[in-house]
Amino acid sequence: MADLHVSINRDQGGIAGQIAAEIRESIRHGRLTPGTRLPASRDLAADLQVSRGVVVEAYEQLVAEGFLISRVGAGTQVAPISSRSMTDAVPASDPGPVYSPHYGHRPTSPDLGCFPRERWLASVRHVLTTMPSDVFDYGDPGGVPELRDELAGYLRRVRAADVRADNLVIVGGVAQGISLALHVLTQGTRGLRLAVEDPNSHRQVPLLLRAGAELVPVPVDDQGLVVTELRARGADAVLITPAHQYPTGVVLSPARRVALMEWAAESGGVVLEDDYDAEFRFDRDPVGCLQGLAPARVILSGSVSKALAPGLRLGWVAAPAELAESMRQARGELDLGSPVIDQYALAHFLRTGGYDKHLRRMRREYRRRRDALVKAVAEHLPEVRVRGIAAGLHAYLDLPPGSDEDAFVGPARELGLAADPVGPTRLTPGPPGVVVGFARLPAHRAAEVIQGLKVRMSGQNID
Ligand SMILES: Cc1ncc(COP(=O)(O)O)c(C=O)c1O
Repeated sequence: MADLHVSINRDQGGIAGQIAAEIRESIRHGRLTPGTRLPASRDLAADLQVSRGVVVEAYEQLVAEGFLISRVGAGTQVAPISSRSMTDAVPASDPGPVYSPHYGHRPTSPDLGCFPRERWLASVRHVLTTMPSDVFDYGDPGGVPELRDELAGYLRRVRAADVRADNLVIVGGVAQGISLALHVLTQGTRGLRLAVEDPNSHRQVPLLLRAGAELVPVPVDDQGLVVTELRARGADAVLITPAHQYPTGVVLSPARRVALMEWAAESGGVVLEDDYDAEFRFDRDPVGCLQGLAPARVILSGSVSKALAPGLRLGWVAAPAELAESMRQARGELDLGSPVIDQYALAHFLRTGGYDKHLRRMRREYRRRRDALVKAVAEHLPEVRVRGIAAGLHAYLDLPPGSDEDAFVGPARELGLAADPVGPTRLTPGPPGVVVGFARLPAHRAAEVIQGLKVRMSGQNID
């Protein structure tokens, strides 16, 4: 049984989060080793003089993140992540072809009408009125230091990432982050076998191919990526959406998180974590990112596209410091970096609490919209099953067997509902489904739109 030293600050609130953070740090730094049993929640609660529920919440968060495992009869133990997965750095390592543009209104896009114009304007104004002119010269190609500092703090706090400013490179969104990471990983190699989820975000496929990757499809089931299949097929790297799989919406299960990290540690494989919509988790705290579990093996990429607006084209990559430095150099050679004024504005927005406040507001609003969509579908399209709604801005709808996906998508789009067929996201054929975005469907309109959809589809018969 571990002798746990957890210190909490009662004035700060979020006690469960504080306990989870302390235990996470102890695991990361090897003070708690794999297999170590943690005190029973009742005992730790008594030691800390907090309610047992608070300790249970902290343990559950760490189980969901893959740091702990919990088995009936065996209590709660530190997960068997080998220390190699935590400490061995990813080796840094030449690029190759095709692009089909898709603009606007994706099912994963946020409600742009809610963009915090006033507060963003205040941040831009602050930058323009206070910064010396010199800083508007070419910036650091890895990103302005102020933003990297702010983001490191934000990612540690909100995504339980294990990052410092020198792990971060500022990029123009997840798409560029993944391109840049692949650019660096494929340098000096004869090609990179990149495992991708099947189904996946088909819009990303051209960028993966252009970066020179050979794609290895790995199926996704109701726990996320099937890691045994990844092992069986073999790959140098894997691109994954663990917080909210695209398109199915599955959250990678704790057991799979651990299994994936074991694969990475044993095979030397790199995990590319696409954290595109992870701030939006509706029924519990966001599950910490995989990068926080094994920072030496995982390259995390995120952006403000879902929280603020895709048009800002602002994002980040967190990678082991050497790899981050290679990406920074590549940015310096390829295009001289991201827009400096916007970077300073985002740093100010984060520092002054604007980002957190906006996220809190939008989480509440999107949850209302999600609930209204789910209710409307249950009432008016009972033959359709909704899943993947624990997080993110889209739902996955299973259509009855034999349905024509386009017979749903066409009328949905006519009604202003962002919808995509699932077929093109599959590398191997599967049952029919559609992805529907709820971020731009106000709760009070959900029933009317879904009812309208039913009317338009009757005659086309999806069932
Ligand atoms: C799964 C997934 N990854 C990445 C992206 C691209 O995000 P970004 O705007 O940050 O490049 C999207 C955009 O819709 C997405 O759905």
